[in-house]
Amino acid sequence: MTAKRQSVHGQWNSRWTFVLAAAGSAVGLGNIWKFPYIAGENGGGAFVLVYLACICLIGVPIMIAEIMLGRRGRQNPVMTMETLAQEEGTSTNWKYLGLIGVLAGFIIVSYYSVIAGWAVSYVFKSAAGLFVHDDPQVVIGLFGGLVSSAEQLLLWHTIFMIMTILVVVRGVKSGIERAVTLLMPGMFVILLMLVVYAMFQGSFVEGFNFLFSADFSKLTRASVLTAVGHAFFTLSLGMGAIMIYGSYLPANVSIVKAGFMVAAADTVIALLAGLAIFPIVFVNGLDAGSGPGLVFQTLPIAFGQMPGGIVIGTLFFVMLVFAAWTSSISLIEPGITFLIEQKNMGRGKACALIGVSTWLLGIVTVLSFNKWAFTFTFAGEEKTEGMFDILDILTTNIMLPLGGLCIAVFVGWKMSQASSMEELGLRRSNIGYQIWLFLLRFVIPVVLLIIMLKAFGILQGKS
Ligand code: PHE
Repeated sequence: MTAKRQSVHGQWNSRWTFVLAAAGSAVGLGNIWKFPYIAGENGGGAFVLVYLACICLIGVPIMIAEIMLGRRGRQNPVMTMETLAQEEGTSTNWKYLGLIGVLAGFIIVSYYSVIAGWAVSYVFKSAAGLFVHDDPQVVIGLFGGLVSSAEQLLLWHTIFMIMTILVVVRGVKSGIERAVTLLMPGMFVILLMLVVYAMFQGSFVEGFNFLFSADFSKLTRASVLTAVGHAFFTLSLGMGAIMIYGSYLPANVSIVKAGFMVAAADTVIALLAGLAIFPIVFVNGLDAGSGPGLVFQTLPIAFGQMPGGIVIGTLFFVMLVFAAWTSSISLIEPGITFLIEQKNMGRGKACALIGVSTWLLGIVTVLSFNKWAFTFTFAGEEKTEGMFDILDILTTNIMLPLGGLCIAVFVGWKMSQASSMEELGLRRSNIGYQIWLFLLRFVIPVVLLIIMLKAFGILQGKS
């Protein structure tokens, strides 16, 4: 019985702790910073629709599969995949799936920390009252001032990296559980307040239509890949974070319910962020496609004008930092447990090693916004943030979907149905189980392959 295998790093107290921790991993910069800006860059509605379809048809099934693998393997992603492959009598090369995930997390956290650093600096800008100004252009300009200074970006990146390592060093239980319990409800309330503000003070109808009325002529092969990649990124899938959290999950908890809850919470938060941001974009005549600065340029205008905006704005950025914090922890936890379990390193040493090396790699992103900025074309679209864009495309649009593809193939084709039914607590006659298996076996691998091959121009056809 695999259920008896114990994780060496303890267990969550209950299903709620898992849901909160996994939601803490999922809800982060991806929802509030990234979703609005890529939706803006890719023309809104049609992109949002593809993204939502990806969440339902690809994200949720893979989420369930990944939690399941984690709980059955109960180790870091590399050893989990190796053990499970052995158990199922197939090649142990599946461990490389875990390894790619560890690597993806490592690269993502390097730039994630830089962006989270922006949020840290905005806590202080807000508290200092810098958003209170008659001219929105001045408030927007604060962002340009920040990213053009490599020194400032490095400072905030360093602070955020230290924050992340401080939690991870203490281990998952004492660190993560406490951090997420307060954050999620608080974040939700402030987002609702912002949406109400946007309803009355912004071009709400225009913002709403931008997000929800689909014009498929705006959809390119690059934007479809971006939507798929983002579904993985925002749900923390395809790199072992959810697998690791699943490995701490007690045996009696329903994986299916937990998976649905996490995906729902994540999607609601992203859509609320969009509903708060786009009405402000349009009422101020800003460009929806302005890129990674979007959130930092729009919401401060709202905070500067609303009553109590200094307090609300400061709270908002504090929460954004917390949301990013709980995500970055989950990004490096797979790598850290890998070093501890496989390389027999102490937790402190593993944290120091990963902390310093991701911090160093982060400097590449720091410089992408100023000294090293360059432009290139990817799948027919112009990218302006040089190395940052390259690291983002490499991880979000290639490594995570590839990880997801492998998970789908492993669970769909290599793992026996007896194993997956046992772990999920479902019978063969369960219609949900059959749909899940069908998606993993056929739909997900085919769709992911086609989208990726098309984006890279390997598969020709209408874009
Ligand atoms: N899901 C997180 C976010 O939306 C980012 C993340 C990706 C975290 C992959 C863990 C793994 O911000």
